[in-house]
Amino acid sequence: MKIGIIYWTGTGNTETMANAIAEGVKKVAEVEVKTVGATSPEKALEYDKLLLGCPAMGAEELEDAEFAPFYEAIKGKLKDKLVALFGPYDWGNGEWMEFWCADAEAAGIKLYDKGYIIQQDDLDDEIDNCINYGENFAKA
Ligand SMILES: Cc1cc2nc3c(=O)[nH]c(=O)nc-3n(C[C@H](O)[C@H](O)[C@H](O)COP(=O)(O)O)c2cc1C
Repeated sequence: MKIGIIYWTGTGNTETMANAIAEGVKKVAEVEVKTVGATSPEKALEYDKLLLGCPAMGAEELEDAEFAPFYEAIKGKLKDKLVALFGPYDWGNGEWMEFWCADAEAAGIKLYDKGYIIQQDDLDDEIDNCINYGENFAKA
């Protein structure tokens, strides 16, 4: 089984989450970690399971230049894969992830959970949880 982790990052927090999650996935499955700019919708659809990472941007939105178009291109084609959504945020309350999960479910995506979010100031303390999250997702 091959699991893909595809993310967008501006200042590195989503990347930190992605790499820690990958460490956990690696314990049980093959993993590839890519920024959204370094992959394509076609390649993303080749993974058996997908983890998608994007921080809260705009006003509780997905990053609109790269990540949102990528997600829109794949979201109707993910029905047979287990998908997990993750990302960091700062001043909000995680609403962007609620919107994102609702949108994914409306598109028929089978979500692993209601999204894994971390307030960016808590990131250092959450690394072990990211690793566990990746391992549990890979086993699911
Ligand atoms: C343009 C911009 C818009 C943002 N909008 C939100 C927001 O709506 N809600 C929120 O909680 N954080 C918001 N943030 C904070 C980011 O989600 C947070 O800094 C996150 O850790 C960035 O992740 P990254 O380091 O992977 O880029 C915004 C940051 C930027 C730069």
